[in-house]
Amino acid sequence: MRKPVIAGNWKMYKTPQESLAFLEAFLPLVADHTRDEIFLFPSITSLSSALQAVAGTNVHAGAQTMHWLNEGAFTGETSPTMLTAIGCGHVLLGHSEQRLYFGETYERVNLKFKAAVAHGITPVVCIGEQLSEREAGRTEETLRLQVNTLLRNVTRAEAKHLILAYEPIWAIGTGRTATPDVAQQAHQIVRDELAACCGAELAGTTRILYGGSVKPDNISTLMAEPDIDGALVGGASLDPHSFARLVKYA
Ligand code: G3P
Repeated sequence: MRKPVIAGNWKMYKTPQESLAFLEAFLPLVADHTRDEIFLFPSITSLSSALQAVAGTNVHAGAQTMHWLNEGAFTGETSPTMLTAIGCGHVLLGHSEQRLYFGETYERVNLKFKAAVAHGITPVVCIGEQLSEREAGRTEETLRLQVNTLLRNVTRAEAKHLILAYEPIWAIGTGRTATPDVAQQAHQIVRDELAACCGAELAGTTRILYGGSVKPDNISTLMAEPDIDGALVGGASLDPHSFARLVKYA
């Protein structure tokens, strides 16, 4: 009932030419794949050409962040209408690198989430605790607060468009994946908080992806957990063959 999503976040990697070379190799490898939805989040300079390259395929390309307003004096930002104008229907929001390095907050992610839904853009919203929070026994409190803040003043009709990605910050780019057990426990807490905010039905249908050092050789055990509905992949999504192996996990 929850169709898995395997998503690649390219972060600040790949020129438009490199993005197109990736897609040329990758698209034929996954052309017949229907079990999972496949998303790619290239950098903003590659997004337009990536969208054209994936048009009519089973792969969706999206932006790595966006502003919540349609226009204004906000140097460096991209608006929802700018994204829809180039045919972009997906966006990553609240990634921990935006939170850690660029001061992103869940109050703003809440505004961005509502704006994305209003423009028909599917938001993949990242949450996840820092190592210090986990070590202090504050993982549950942190995740509940993040989900709660994200969903403040969000209606059920809006919330049904949400895809969440649980990315423990200590597992990102470190090679230190959360064990399936640890990830499952966190996903259960997140689903429970979703139920508290929006009701059990919505919690039961919302996809929660896991992210943090997901590789072709550990995705299957993660995907075997009942509350893990996909993966958000950084490093291992940069190579078309490695990402295709991930998409086709057993
Ligand atoms: O958004 C994906 C991410 O932050 C995980 O990165 O390189 O640990 O797979 P990585």
